[in-house]
Amino acid sequence: MRLRPGLLCVAVTLALLGCERKQASAPSPAAAPAAPASAQPATGPLIIGTVGALTGPEAHFGGESRNGAQLAVEEANAAGGVQGRQLVLRSYDSQSKPEEAANAMTRLVNQDGALFVVGENQSSLSLAMAPAAAKGQVPMISPSSTNPRVTSEGGPYVFRVCFTDTFQGQLLARYARETLKAERVAILVDQKSDYAVGLAKVFSTRFIALGGKVVAEEAYAKGDTDFRAQLTRVKAPRPEVLFIPGYYSDVGPMARQARELGMRVTLLGGDGWDSGDRLGQLGGTAVEGAMYSTHFAPDNPGGRVQDFIARYKARFGNVPDALGALGYDAARVGIDALRRSSGVGGPALREQIGRTRDFDGITGKITLGPGRDAVKPAIIVKLVKGQPVFAAEVSP
Ligand code: PHE
Repeated sequence: MRLRPGLLCVAVTLALLGCERKQASAPSPAAAPAAPASAQPATGPLIIGTVGALTGPEAHFGGESRNGAQLAVEEANAAGGVQGRQLVLRSYDSQSKPEEAANAMTRLVNQDGALFVVGENQSSLSLAMAPAAAKGQVPMISPSSTNPRVTSEGGPYVFRVCFTDTFQGQLLARYARETLKAERVAILVDQKSDYAVGLAKVFSTRFIALGGKVVAEEAYAKGDTDFRAQLTRVKAPRPEVLFIPGYYSDVGPMARQARELGMRVTLLGGDGWDSGDRLGQLGGTAVEGAMYSTHFAPDNPGGRVQDFIARYKARFGNVPDALGALGYDAARVGIDALRRSSGVGGPALREQIGRTRDFDGITGKITLGPGRDAVKPAIIVKLVKGQPVFAAEVSP
């Protein structure tokens, strides 16, 4: 149990119910038929893929999770690889675009012969990749896609090592209502993001069930830069909390504009805000005191976490955020299953990933049940001087 007394707060014990630019040239998905991974050559390196945004507004997401996966691969290789074979990582840039994520997955399946793929981070992009995973029988393990549909609609080859938004949305509603004592919240939703739309819905349903009022709900679309019209409308009914279930890249400018308009509300978000100190840089004093739920807190004093941070930092030069830790966990879950399938991919590897039980991840214990989701605690952090600081841990 990682709940630390004394810090900001709130021992929240919630009884909640139940989350490179294309490596070379452009992909040519039709170039080769999907080779079932079980037909991989029995010698040579074992290929593992990653797909994440390495350029574009969410560039940070893919870089961190790829680095996490890279560290896992290097550590596994240093320990002798799998069946004496070395592991090699192939990484692709989704550019935050669903069609690019789908192309990258197709290329990993058809051309690279990847045994499994770590990705995508964003729910909408994982959903776009899933058909290629199913068709090629190549498991994908999402580090961080939390929308419930990612696995339920994505099919039997899609796994994730994070909790889902059914849990996250409810715990945030409860945090807003019971810990922050909010009666009135407003919500700003990125209507193009499956993640944001889903999280907003779970949150508001739960917040209302707990006796709170959603006094305004406004939409925006990823890539917008001027949020003043929506903010002016959500300000009018005087909310105490502004819930923004989007990505850090939008939240920074939005928070600045909210403060310019004189909004003093508490800003609350989900794991899409997790970006190390980037949100603090983008939002400045406007995000000071803002709170969000996530998967990992770098100031967790636990030996395992601190040890991981030291290794990651020695390799990549920065303190990892949630995506670095989740990318590492996703890759390790895949490699562990690959050992149990004796280096064979396809249905055999899928089955072994599905047998993951109590895997000791950096982000918590990972068990992949029949739904292929991990059930894990969430962490609430608060931005203090631009840095995320552990506030509470909430168990499912
Ligand atoms: N949960 C987000 C989604 O499903 C992605 C994300 C997770 C982003 C963690 C940042 C950190 O789209």
